[in-house]
Amino acid sequence: MARNYDLGGKVAVVTGGGKGIGRAISQGLAECGAKVVLASRTQEELEKVADEIKGGGGDATAVVTDLMVGEQIDKLVETTMNTYGHVDILINNAARSFLRPLMDLREDGWDKIFDTNCKAAFLLSRAVAKIMGEQGGGRIVNITTVGAVRGGAGMGVYHASKAALTMLTKCMAVEWASLNVNVNAVGPGLTKTAFSQPIWENPEIEQMITSRIPKGRLGEPEEVVGAVLFLCSEDSNYITGESIYVDGGSLANT
Ligand SMILES: NC(=O)c1ccc[n+]([C@@H]2O[C@H](COP(=O)([O-])OP(=O)(O)OC[C@H]3O[C@@H](n4cnc5c(N)ncnc54)[C@H](OP(=O)(O)O)[C@@H]3O)[C@@H](O)[C@H]2O)c1
Repeated sequence: MARNYDLGGKVAVVTGGGKGIGRAISQGLAECGAKVVLASRTQEELEKVADEIKGGGGDATAVVTDLMVGEQIDKLVETTMNTYGHVDILINNAARSFLRPLMDLREDGWDKIFDTNCKAAFLLSRAVAKIMGEQGGGRIVNITTVGAVRGGAGMGVYHASKAALTMLTKCMAVEWASLNVNVNAVGPGLTKTAFSQPIWENPEIEQMITSRIPKGRLGEPEEVVGAVLFLCSEDSNYITGESIYVDGGSLANT
């Protein structure tokens, strides 16, 4: 898929950039000319994506980061600045969840989900937005989900964490508009990655889900990328605090 946005000279940080949707976003940003800083806990996955980007003529740096640890978030920002000298784009993509009824979710399960999906996105966004403000502006894109605006069984705390991230997107957009930092969200529907594998590897469940998606199939990670690139590009200069759902018409059908 040819990517047409010009992000030449920009530096982008992508959390969870080692696989799934984050890997696809990282590759899309690199195809548009951005230098990409990839962050997650798994060095091997990060190095593989960095090598793929470099193999295609791009520039990428892997920074092993556990986003549940505040000092490691600071280190990620510091390494980005030491390596490239500026940061223009942040994609808060990393997330975790457990497929478990609310009655069975332990208290530390709540903390892990909210700390990764919401608190880390806030801490990293704030650290990066300060720098972006001094530089004259930047873009933050939070990866949410259709589950942020639609209830469902089995992943209730994950949905709640993404609903919180959606509201945080609006509030950051309002407070940081004066810094020329645009903050938006992209919410995928069910997309074929390791994250959602327990759902789509069961043909009966997949059939039940796809029957409710107007497009009649699940999304592919590469299909989330266009909306993210648009929100990082000049074409979206006057858009902030918004959410774009990439869901095959799923939300329109509820
Ligand atoms: N797939 C779907 O159906 C779907 C649907 C709607 C929304 N989404 C959203 O899309 C985004 C990407 O999902 P995906 O499907 O690509 O999932 P994935 O393949 O499981 O990737 C999740 C990424 O997050 C990273 N991560 C998790 N905890 C972390 C931590 N503490 N520190 C640093 N990195 C951490 C993981 O890396 P490590 O484990 O190596 O740290 C991994 O790279 C998520 O925000 C998800 O909520 C996905």
